[in-house]
Amino acid sequence: MTATLILTHFNELFVPNDPGHPLRGKEMNEATVLKDAYVAFQDDKILAIGEGEVPAELIGPKTKIEERRGMVATPGLIDCHTHLVYGGSREHEFSKKLNGMSYLDILAEGGGILSTLKATRESSFETLYDKSKDLLEQMMIHGVTTVEAKSGYGLNWETEKRQLEVVKKLNEDLPVDLVSTFMAAHVIPPEYKENPDPLIDEIITMLPKIKEENLAEFVDVFCDAGVYTAEQSKRLLEAAKKEGFALRIHADEIESIGGSTVAAELGATSAEHLMVITDEDIQKLADAHVIGNLLPATTFSLMEDTYAPARKMMDAGMAITITTDSNPGSCPMANLQFVMQLGCLYLRMTPTEVYNAVTINAAYSVHREKTVGSLDKGKNADLTVFAVPNLDYLLYYFATNHAAEVYKNGKCIVKDRQIVRA
Ligand code: NIG
Ligand code: FE
Repeated sequence: MTATLILTHFNELFVPNDPGHPLRGKEMNEATVLKDAYVAFQDDKILAIGEGEVPAELIGPKTKIEERRGMVATPGLIDCHTHLVYGGSREHEFSKKLNGMSYLDILAEGGGILSTLKATRESSFETLYDKSKDLLEQMMIHGVTTVEAKSGYGLNWETEKRQLEVVKKLNEDLPVDLVSTFMAAHVIPPEYKENPDPLIDEIITMLPKIKEENLAEFVDVFCDAGVYTAEQSKRLLEAAKKEGFALRIHADEIESIGGSTVAAELGATSAEHLMVITDEDIQKLADAHVIGNLLPATTFSLMEDTYAPARKMMDAGMAITITTDSNPGSCPMANLQFVMQLGCLYLRMTPTEVYNAVTINAAYSVHREKTVGSLDKGKNADLTVFAVPNLDYLLYYFATNHAAEVYKNGKCIVKDRQIVRA
């Protein structure tokens, strides 16, 4: 079989292993780095990878061959935790934060997620679509080809549905893959402050409708001090599981109140944040094979020093990913490369662990491991090309966009750091 396009002479090509499960513990520090490498696409699929000269049998009369000397490539990056769709922004709270007001205190006085809730409820489908499209294109420009996106700034059926419909339409219209998560249990509005249980009941009634309209694959809940208790989170996630959803949980971000235990008990796909997780809970997640989705740019933006204990997690045999958490409050940004750099600098991950975290492990975290996340023959031809001399350089030279070119399903979607318009 001959290739349609072959990119040749990459200085380095990062090739993750895909053993049929997310890379756990020591496995996260294993991968192959090919030198003077080529990647051959057959239309929208990976056909072959290798080193040195391209074998003649891959080249046919219609094969395009292009050199990429001086560059490196990885599988298309995967951002597996984002709050992509929302109205407004929160710079009006920035000075409060700089003056030392905490995230939960801003929320308690009606700001934070509650202020985005108001702005999102007031935004039309078109406004949300245009805004999210811009944000998604920023992510693509930074090398991302697959993105998880949550609802959670509506809480009522109408707005949650609108958010998820925006995700669905963006998935149809843009060349990236979107994976959606229903997260109505993102905050407790003042009218339910005393007793959030009726709100949980209400959210549970939305689950069959979300399923019926195929609006989400995952259900997520913010389990933390000032938000949902472990008991409330468990009740909602149990109902979601019965309804056939895969589960995620925002846990141990601000206080450790039992969210990770819920994730382990219910067999959630992932637990998110985990900044203040206990050693005991790390072991529970490792034993239950729950993936830890870590969000170091959130810790950075919250100006905290409680970075998630990534090394302890890997020592305990956990699989972890790192991801932006892109949202208007705790992490207003769209640059996964910066998160990767923080992964090295503050989570103390090795470059190999970081690259595995945003490719193969992130693919498992969004249940797309059969199609993306590695460069195995037959997977989708998703590739990010970086204008750096080696893989370490990308992580060392921080806060710069190194992605020069991005391929999704064999098509070039970003060229010279700009979106390719059809
Ligand atoms: O993952 N922790 C809860 N939710 C988001 C923040 C959302 C917001 O502040 O708007 C997060 O950090
Ligand atoms: Fe989040």
